Amino acid sequence: MSPSRDGAPAGSAAEDGSGLGGAAATSRRGPDIFAKCARNPELDMYRSAEQLGLNPFYREITGEIGPTILYEGSDVVMLGSNNYLGLTTDPRVREAARDAVDRYGTGVTGSRLLNGTLSLHTELEELLADWVRLPAALVFTTGYTANVGLVSTLVQSGDAVFCDSAAHASLVDGARLADGMLRAFQHNRPNSLRRGLRSWRSQAGGGGVLVAVDGIYSMEGDWAPLPEIRAACDDYGARLLVDEAHALGVVGPSGAGTAVATGARPDLVMGTFSKALASCGGFIGGPADVIDYLRVFCRPLLFTASNVPASLGAALAAAKIAREEDWRREAVLSLAHRLRSGLAQLGYQVGGETSSSIVPVHVGDVLSAAVLWRALLDRGVYTNCSIPPAVQRPMLRTSVMATHTEAQIDRALSVFEDIARHGVVDAGRERLEGLFEPELELDASAP
Ligand SMILES: Cc1ncc(COP(=O)(O)O)c(C=O)c1O
Repeated sequence: MSPSRDGAPAGSAAEDGSGLGGAAATSRRGPDIFAKCARNPELDMYRSAEQLGLNPFYREITGEIGPTILYEGSDVVMLGSNNYLGLTTDPRVREAARDAVDRYGTGVTGSRLLNGTLSLHTELEELLADWVRLPAALVFTTGYTANVGLVSTLVQSGDAVFCDSAAHASLVDGARLADGMLRAFQHNRPNSLRRGLRSWRSQAGGGGVLVAVDGIYSMEGDWAPLPEIRAACDDYGARLLVDEAHALGVVGPSGAGTAVATGARPDLVMGTFSKALASCGGFIGGPADVIDYLRVFCRPLLFTASNVPASLGAALAAAKIAREEDWRREAVLSLAHRLRSGLAQLGYQVGGETSSSIVPVHVGDVLSAAVLWRALLDRGVYTNCSIPPAVQRPMLRTSVMATHTEAQIDRALSVFEDIARHGVVDAGRERLEGLFEPELELDASAP
């Protein structure tokens, strides 16, 4: 094979100018790895949704994310963020981020293992371990890598991880990367977990077991029945991991999360800085030997860059404030209650629990969800549109912040009311039917 002028092999796409290299070349060389990107029905839907202004994903926000945001030049009530305690704009948190940049620079340009562990990591790890009442903690660059790293490192050949069927994608992805088995049990059904564990233990050669649940589920805002799950783990010698991403700072004494609130004594806790802690990063809390094991063997910790200093400084300041300022927890839960009960009174199908800042609004189908999302945004309310497979049934995921005012929640409620009174969703559906397939499913990851 002689090289062509631009260095591509003879007979290649570059040579015959077709872009793919002609039929003979294709059959010789096999299918193009990019083909799925050019011809994909879901992607086509995504693009048409974008053209019709109905694509709820990757919206560009042009200012800070507080109780209201600037969206396309308008002031919009923000019900689509995980900034539960309202700390992303707190002057003390901003200042701590700035101080960290002044002291450590903008990045560490390396992994924690080699040159990326700062004194901020150590201080944060001590605080976090103390907060979740476990002996040690280890900070990761994101919450996602914390879960993926923990599960893929711990669940080795012969072992199994039992995940609640609604557990976060990062737990499932960790299991997929692991050499051990992934088993699912029915959402929030300890008996389903027990059946799975019993069957696992009855098999010869079954190794260790990790049970992984979210303390508060990210989309529905419901709590895991931790005491029952703990009891099942105890009966079958399994270790319990509780993902406190949506609970830390928000529930439990001093915001310590669902495990401390319920006295469930988990073996491991995962937390993230990207929600109540107003930053980016994550951590695993657990026994010192497990944390040391992760330090040495956890590839998603070893082979990625460490947190930027500003994110650590912000998370540290936010964690200190979150532990101390109980009023934020009281405010966020009371505002969520106001929103939840207001929506229910208006006839919306609302889920979630009273002790959660997440208020899911169930919508019959994907098209209705997209139309409602757009109608709300046009009238000044930002929500998250969540559709299968990220969730089982389409919904608008709303959530509140401690720093919302009651007037802002009421403003959002009056928009919901206006939409319901004028039948905006049904009218929008009728107009758009035929343009979208009813089974439209865009892949969206849970926040
Ligand atoms: C329950 C849960 N676990 C883990 C994560 C991952 O955390 P992060 O966004 O910090 O990577 C998230 C956030 O998306 C989450 O909702």
